[in-house]
Amino acid sequence: MAGEAPRVVVALDVDSRERAEALASRLDPALCRLKVGKELFTRTGPELVERLHARGYSVFLDLKFHDIPNTVAGACRAAADLGVWMVNVHALGGERMLIAAREALDTAGGARPLLTAVTMLTSHGPEDLARLGLRDSPDALVARLAALALGAGLDGLVCSAREAADLRAAHGPDPVLVTPGIRPAEADADDQRRVVTPGEALAQGSDYLVIGRPVTAAPDPRHALERINASIAD
Ligand code: C5P
Repeated sequence: MAGEAPRVVVALDVDSRERAEALASRLDPALCRLKVGKELFTRTGPELVERLHARGYSVFLDLKFHDIPNTVAGACRAAADLGVWMVNVHALGGERMLIAAREALDTAGGARPLLTAVTMLTSHGPEDLARLGLRDSPDALVARLAALALGAGLDGLVCSAREAADLRAAHGPDPVLVTPGIRPAEADADDQRRVVTPGEALAQGSDYLVIGRPVTAAPDPRHALERINASIAD
């Protein structure tokens, strides 16, 4: 996949800077991007992101901001100042929060991170929505929140690969679709309930594949990543 922008975003779901950097040193920015989530960022802070940038990686800062518009706008500006490739928010934060996040990045100097929204957490089922007082079915809620986020001018969505084809049909080719829950055909599903192979996810319209344990827990992470990239190239 040399020469082509990497489609795989490896989830660095580890609990220390040392472990994160050990993985980064075994992987290659020509082969993948990296996702830094809440646990790792809370433990290591912006310094780790700067170190990953120094190694040449594009970083998806997966902190799923969800707060009042002014606070989320400030957090997005801080992410832009860090120089990350992508940052995300919760669509449930509402339209004014989504617009404030997008406007904060529009007016931030330097390279603007891509701004994506999480619609419904995949850990939520219909009964969880009912207990929250949300009457939509999960599918209808995803469609509603996706339209809200894209209408607010966000660049794309974090969604299940199983939702990607419907979202492409509804919103066309422009939104960036980022999909977790990916497993190579031969890999263990771990705790993911409904998994999709890398090739299937791309066929459904996904742009970027978030993949954690199939790479990070492999005896040879780089080899595992190369096999995934080869399966995509096929
Ligand atoms: O190890 P695995 O490939 O299952 O990791 C998937 C990554 O994507 C984790 O960081 C997880 O938190 C994230 N994620 C997910 N499902 C979502 C949203 C994010 O698995 N709906």
